[in-house]
Amino acid sequence: MHSIFFLASLVLSVISLTRAAPASSDSREPARTNPATLVNLRVEGANSTIFEAPIITRGHNITTASGGTHHCDGTNLDANASPGATCTSALDDAAKLVKFGYDGTFDIEFDDFFITRIASSAETNTQFWGLLLDYEFTPVGGCQQEVKTGQSILWAFDAFNKAFFLKLAALSHTTKVGKPFTVTVTDGTSRVPIAGATVNVSGKGGESVISDENGVASIVFEYAGVYKLKAERSDSIRSNMVDVVVI
Ligand SMILES: *[C@@H]1O[C@H](CO)[C@@H](O)[C@H](O)[C@H]1NC(C)=O
Ligand SMILES: *[C@@H]1O[C@H](CO)[C@@H](O)[C@H](O)[C@H]1NC(C)=O
Ligand SMILES: *[C@@H]1O[C@H](CO)[C@@H](O)[C@H](O)[C@H]1NC(C)=O
Repeated sequence: MHSIFFLASLVLSVISLTRAAPASSDSREPARTNPATLVNLRVEGANSTIFEAPIITRGHNITTASGGTHHCDGTNLDANASPGATCTSALDDAAKLVKFGYDGTFDIEFDDFFITRIASSAETNTQFWGLLLDYEFTPVGGCQQEVKTGQSILWAFDAFNKAFFLKLAALSHTTKVGKPFTVTVTDGTSRVPIAGATVNVSGKGGESVISDENGVASIVFEYAGVYKLKAERSDSIRSNMVDVVVI
C-alpha cells in the first residue's frame, strides 16, 4: 500500500515542480513561501513501523484532541522568518493519508506540540516519542523544525532509551537467484557498523540473517520476486526498509 502513496507523492511532486518551474525573475513577485515539499517520513512505533514513504507536505494548522488547533509552519516561536513544511506537518499529513491516529499536547511557552501518541504507541513515564531529521535529534520542536526537499524525518518511539538508529544499505536493488546479496547495517547518526542486528527478509522463502562485526550480512535468495528488508536490534530503533527485486 505504501507504493500507492509513493506514486501519489511522485505525481504530486511533478505537479508542484511544474508549478515551481516558472519561478520568474520578476522582482515584483513576492518570494515563494511555504512550498509543497517532498520529504521522506518514517514513523517507528513500539512494535512495528507505522509509516515509511515519501510524502508531500507544507506548513499548516493542525488539530489534536489534547492540544487543540495551532499553527505548525516553522514560524512557531519565531524559529523561522517565513512559513514552510515541518516535521510535524509531515506527520499530520501522513496520519490523514493512512488514517493512523495521533495525539499531542500543546505547550504555549514553547509554541509547539509535544507528540504523546502515534497509532497505538503512547508515551509512558519512561518512554517518549523522539524526533530526528537526517538521523540527528532536532534541536527544536516539530512545528519549529522546517524541512527541505529530500530530507528524512524519523519519529521514533522510546528514542531516548535507544543505543542506535539503524540504517540499512545495499549497493544495488536488484540481484539474481542463488547469488549472495550483501547489505550493511550502520548507526545512521554515528555511521559506525552495527553487529548482531537481525535483517528481516520478507518475501517467498525469506529467512532473516544477522549482521557481523562489520555490520555486513549476506542473503541468498532462492526464488525470484520482490523482497523487503529491514534490520532490527532490541536496543535500537529499527532501520529503514530496503526493497530488492530478485530475478
Ligand atoms: C490557525 O490557527 C490559529 C490559532 O493558532 C488561528 O488563529 C488561525 O486563524 C488558523 N488559521 C487557519 C487558516 O485556520
Ligand atoms: C509492544 O509489545 C509489547 C510486548 O508484546 C506489549 O507489551 C506492548 O503493549 C506493545 N505495544 C504496542 C504499542 O503495541
Ligand atoms: C521481523 O520478523 C519478525 C517475524 O516475522 C516480526 O515479528 C518482526 O516484526 C519483524 N521485524 C521487522 C523490523 O520487520
